[in-house]
Amino acid sequence: MNAATQANLQFYESFAPLYPTVYSLFDTNEMVMQWLRILEDDGFVSGADGRNEDRPKLLDVACGPGNFLAAWASNGFDVTGVDSSPTMLRLAAVEWKRSRPNEPCRLVRANLCDPDSLGELRDSFDLAVSHSHLPNLFHPEDLPALFQSVANCLRPGAIWAVDHSRIVGNLPVGEDEHAITATAKLLRVCGYDEVRHECTQSWTGDGFEGRETYWFIDIEQLDKIALQRGLRLRRRMEWKPNRTDKPFVPLRTESERLFSVYQRQ
Ligand SMILES: C[S@@+](CC[C@H](N)C(=O)[O-])C[C@H]1O[C@@H](n2cnc3c(N)ncnc32)[C@H](O)[C@@H]1O
Repeated sequence: MNAATQANLQFYESFAPLYPTVYSLFDTNEMVMQWLRILEDDGFVSGADGRNEDRPKLLDVACGPGNFLAAWASNGFDVTGVDSSPTMLRLAAVEWKRSRPNEPCRLVRANLCDPDSLGELRDSFDLAVSHSHLPNLFHPEDLPALFQSVANCLRPGAIWAVDHSRIVGNLPVGEDEHAITATAKLLRVCGYDEVRHECTQSWTGDGFEGRETYWFIDIEQLDKIALQRGLRLRRRMEWKPNRTDKPFVPLRTESERLFSVYQRQ
């Protein structure tokens, strides 16, 4: 694994206790409904009646603290989460128990850069989902392993729905503050290295200090890697999660936030 991808893994483990607070503004139920609507409309998943009869098996790839697991489960999916961070998985288990106390919680620790570590999940899922830019968190050298890991978990014909970002106009630079308690704040500073196509995001405050890196490879290159690992692009739209009336629009040259659906061959 590239050292910078490895550093991201460590960053998420240390950032895990802060993650649910920093990202608490997301309406995960609304986001899941948006994805579900487009997946149903395109025929990638069965409608609610079909799901109630036979719950499709869904894997949340890099589930983090489990923000999206209950929302998928309440829409008729039989969910499992996988992540590398033990602290994220502990938080996900607590959140699951709070929201669905009578259902078993299936969480697996594995490293998506090491497809063998997901062996127990092999060929098991009808649908995989990844929320919050997962492909951008991997150094380009590690993307083949990411796609291989996901492909291995899917049944033939099953799909992976994932959001990701690219840079086409605005550079991801600047800073902002995030309140984590009534008195404590985290400062986030984003910088962009135009030569390496690398964005670094530093977080400091309340005794915490950490740095994560994002990469933005060409989407043609991304799709080529996917295809080499047995995942063919079936659908790509621009995603505007805040435009609840029409969250998906056809891809434009200026589209930055993307929603892609890959299908296992
Ligand atoms: C930006 S967070 C997103 C969490 C969750 N999907 C959400 O949207 O709230 C990224 C997650 O990816 C996980 N992750 C990053 N690299 C990973 C890897 N190589 N293997 C497994 N999980 C990884 C991190 O531990 C973290 O929980």
